[in-house]
Amino acid sequence: MFETLEPKPADTILKLIGEHLNDPRPEKVDLGVGVYRDASGNTPILNCVKNAEQWLVTNQASKAYLGSRGDVVFCDAIQKLVFGDAGSDDGRIATIQSPGGSGALRVAAELALRANPNARVWVSDPTWNNHVPLLGEAGIELRAYPYYDADTNGIRFEAMLAALEESVEGDLLLLHGCCHNPTGLDLSREQWHQVADLVESRKLIPFVDFAYQGFGDGIDDDAYGVRLMYERLPEMIVTHSCSKNFGLYRDRVGAMSFVARDEKTAQVVDSQAQFIVRTMYSLPPDHGAAVVSRILHDDDSRAEWLAELEGMRQRLKGMRSALVAALKIAAPGHDFAHVERTTGMFCYLGVSPEQVARLVKERGIYLVDSSRINVCGITEGNVEYLADSIASVL
Ligand code: LMR
Repeated sequence: MFETLEPKPADTILKLIGEHLNDPRPEKVDLGVGVYRDASGNTPILNCVKNAEQWLVTNQASKAYLGSRGDVVFCDAIQKLVFGDAGSDDGRIATIQSPGGSGALRVAAELALRANPNARVWVSDPTWNNHVPLLGEAGIELRAYPYYDADTNGIRFEAMLAALEESVEGDLLLLHGCCHNPTGLDLSREQWHQVADLVESRKLIPFVDFAYQGFGDGIDDDAYGVRLMYERLPEMIVTHSCSKNFGLYRDRVGAMSFVARDEKTAQVVDSQAQFIVRTMYSLPPDHGAAVVSRILHDDDSRAEWLAELEGMRQRLKGMRSALVAALKIAAPGHDFAHVERTTGMFCYLGVSPEQVARLVKERGIYLVDSSRINVCGITEGNVEYLADSIASVL
């Protein structure tokens, strides 16, 4: 049976983990996969997470199954984090725990197809490398809308709106809630309003991938677009991840929220989503969600988390400025100012795939072929080496 299978190439982002690990050069730099790194280049476990884990060791009374929804206390806390305290009171939102943001995306795609077998998803060009295969493997048709302008390092907003004129009623519009991956370029508040107008008039369904809440400008500021869509539109899907903002990457913690026209419909959607979960992976892993639940429900832990999140956010801002300053010296004829205009973990460096290959081969600097860099990989200790290396391939 298995001899019928062809080998699959490794995922373009995940393969960088092993390639960087196996590189013996001490000066190597990992700007690849989207994990946070501190000033020493480590991916620490947050203090609030360690404390919550200690608390769980003492207080968690059972590991018995919880059901396909996962932990209801966690789901309630995430719903409030995403939609705000007021937003979640009308019964229109069904929230279900998921194995990370990717698990949520896959279940959401399956559910969308059940509701509308002709549904298509419009994704930004470019978008996260895994959006297309992940949603495509669920069987959903994908269309691209222009997003990144390589000439200006900005958003092609007018072209985006024009392309979406080809959408039809019931199509889903995938938007990045904040910290667009890979470009780091987010819609302004004014642009979110314009997109909401378009979604409303063309009767589209917003499908917001919200994987970086808190990494842009803060928990509430980052939720501006999601909450606006929720207030203005009858239906939407939001997928949420706790990988980055709680640093729980490998514990696989996320959630999916389905907003329906009314409470009764939300209950139907909820039952369908739980059925899909049951037939796919039965129920989500508990540990990370129990940690998040503890953090969000205990005032001191929550305050500690928000402070740690602020620390991560500020470090990223600082490293963006440090890289731009170092490049001004190392590559004076070139303009990298756009790096400082981006938010979250990522931005494009703006070099070619050939130049990326040289950075890997000659300098041990690992980044995605598109020239997406994970800003978290920059430290005070490597920023000059990085800038010199970039200058050497320009
Ligand atoms: C990334 O974009 O690097 C992260 O979201 C990790 C992943 O799974 O690709």
